[in-house]
Amino acid sequence: DLTVTREFEPQEFAVIAYRGASAYAPEHTLASYAKALGMGADYIEVDLQMTQDGALIALHDVSLERTTDAEEVYPDREPWIAGLFTLEEIKRLDAGSWFGEEYAGEEVPTLQEVIDLVGRDARLYIETKEPEAHPGMERRLIEVLDENGLLGTDRVIVQSFSPESLQLLRELDEDLFLVQLYSPEMVAGQDREELLDAAAEYANGIGPDKDLVDAGLVQEANRRNLVVHPYTVNERADMLRLLNLGVEGMFTDMPDHLMGILQRS
Ligand code: G3P
Ligand code: CA
Repeated sequence: DLTVTREFEPQEFAVIAYRGASAYAPEHTLASYAKALGMGADYIEVDLQMTQDGALIALHDVSLERTTDAEEVYPDREPWIAGLFTLEEIKRLDAGSWFGEEYAGEEVPTLQEVIDLVGRDARLYIETKEPEAHPGMERRLIEVLDENGLLGTDRVIVQSFSPESLQLLRELDEDLFLVQLYSPEMVAGQDREELLDAAAEYANGIGPDKDLVDAGLVQEANRRNLVVHPYTVNERADMLRLLNLGVEGMFTDMPDHLMGILQRS
C-alpha cells in the first residue's frame, strides 16, 4: 500500500496545473485554467508563444494546428505557425472544439487575459517556449508582469528549457524565480553535478522530466538551493514516489488527484 512517508507541510508544496486542468478541459484555454482554480491548484502553467505582432499568447505548440481549427479557417497557411499570425487572426480560432463540443468557442488566450482570470486566486508558472524563434519575448514578458504589478512578488515563476532565455530574464530582473527545465534528451551523457552547478548560477529551481528524478538529484539540487518540480505527473504511484523523494512541487494534468493525496481537497 503506497502512502506518503515524507514529513512535510502540504501547504508548502506546489500543485502546478499543467496547461490548466488539462485532463478535463482543452489545454491553455480559460476554461482549463478556471477548472484548475476551482480545484485549488497553487500555480497555473502557461506556455508562451508570441504572435507576429508581438502579443504573448498561451499555446504549447509552435503550430496552431493541433489545438485549434486553424486548418479549416486558414486552409492556405500550412503549417499554421503561430508566430506568423496576428493576434486578431488567432482570436478568430476555436481552441476548444477539438477537445469536446461543449468547449466550442474557447479562444487562444493572451497572457493578459490569463492574468485577469487568475488574479490573486493562484500564481502563474510561465514557460518561454521556442525563445530563439521569438526575439523580444523575455523583454515583453517582463513588461507585462510589470504592468500588472507582478514583478517583485512571489506570484510568478518563469520556466524554460533554454538556459539563454533564463539568463536573459535574470539580467532583466534579479529577483524573478526561475526554473531550468530538463528533458531526458538534454541531459543524456551529461555530468549531473556540472548541469546543476550551471543552473544554480541563474536559476532558483529545476523542472526535470519525472523519470529523471531520484533521491540523488533531489539532494544535489537542494544542496545548491534549487527546488525540484518534476513534470508531468499523472499517475498516483508516481505522485507518491516523488513526494517521498522530497520534491517541492509537481506539474500535473490532474490537480484534483494531487490535492487528494495531499489531503487538501
Ligand atoms: O514545465 C514542464 C513542462 O512544461 C515541459 O514540457 O509540456 O511544455 O513540453 P512541455
Ligand atoms: Ca510547459
